Amino acid sequence: MIETPLQASREPGPERPNESEQMAVPVQVDGVGRTFTRGRRPAVHALADVSLRAAAGETVAVVGPSGCGKSTLLELICGLQRPDSGTVRCAPAALMPQRDLLLPWASALDNAALALRAGGAGRDEARRLARPWLDRFGLAEFATARPAELSGGMRQRVSFLRSLLAGKPVLALDEPFASLDAITRAEMQGWLGHVLAGERRTVVLVTHDVEEAVMLGDRVIVLSGRPGRVLESVEVGVARPRRRSDPAIVALRERVLAALGVGE
Ligand SMILES: Nc1ncnc2c1ncn2[C@@H]1O[C@H](COP(=O)(O)OP(=O)(O)OP(=O)(O)O)[C@@H](O)[C@H]1O
Ligand SMILES: [Mg+2]
Repeated sequence: MIETPLQASREPGPERPNESEQMAVPVQVDGVGRTFTRGRRPAVHALADVSLRAAAGETVAVVGPSGCGKSTLLELICGLQRPDSGTVRCAPAALMPQRDLLLPWASALDNAALALRAGGAGRDEARRLARPWLDRFGLAEFATARPAELSGGMRQRVSFLRSLLAGKPVLALDEPFASLDAITRAEMQGWLGHVLAGERRTVVLVTHDVEEAVMLGDRVIVLSGRPGRVLESVEVGVARPRRRSDPAIVALRERVLAALGVGE
C-alpha cells in the first residue's frame, strides 16, 4: 500500500455532506441547472435539472453529445463552479481536466507530484511519495522527461497520476483518453480499469466513447444535447475484467447508443 495524503478539503465549493453520508454517497447532484450569460450574447443553457448519485467506490460514466455540459458537470462536482439551480453535495474531489495542463518546464515526476506539493508536501517529500507511482504506471524511465518528450498516452498517465495523488475520495475524469489513437486508447482503458480496481475511489468518468463508458462504468448516465438532461441511467452489471466482445457489453453499448439517438 503506497501512502497518499488524504486531505479533508474545506475549500469553498459544493456543500459537504456529513461524514456518514459522504462515505455512502460521495457524489449527490440534485436537480442542477447551469446557464452561462456573457454580456449581450444570448444565454447558454448548459445543464437542466440534472440529478445523479455516485456511491462510494462506484464508477459512474457520463456520456452525451459535444457541448451538452459534461465538463461543466464535473466542474460543479469539484466545486469549481456553482449551480444556478439545484444542489451539489460532494466529498472532496480531484479533477483530471479535458486538456492535460502539464507544466511544460517540469519533469514527469514533478508534474505528477504537483498535487502533493499543493497539499503542503515539500519538494523532496512530494517526489518521494510520487516516485513509486511512476514506476507502477510504467513511467519509471521517464521520470525526468519533460511533457514534450512524452507520448500522448504517457502525458495522460502523468495527468491521471496527478489527480490520483491529490488523495481525494472522488475522481472526476474528463475524457481522459479522447486525444489518443484507437490502439493506445484501448490499452489505456484496460490500464485504467486495472488501476481503479485496486483503488477505492468514487469516479465520475466523462467520455464521448460509449464503449469506454460500458467497459469502465458500473453505471452509465446518458445526457441529452444542450441543455444536458439525464435521458437514461444504465446499470452495467457485468463482472470485471470485461471483454469488448462480451454479448452483454455489446448489448449495453447498443442500448446507450440508442438512448443517444444513434441508430444502426
Ligand atoms: N465558462 C463558460 N462561459 C461561457 N460558456 C461556457 C463556459 N463553459 C462552458 N460553456 C458553454 O456551456 C456549454 C457546455 O460546455 P461544456 O464544456 O460543459 O460541454 P461538454 O459536454 O464538456 O462538451 P465537449 O464534449 O465538447 O467537451 C457549451 O455551449 C459551452 O460553450
Ligand atoms: Mg468537455
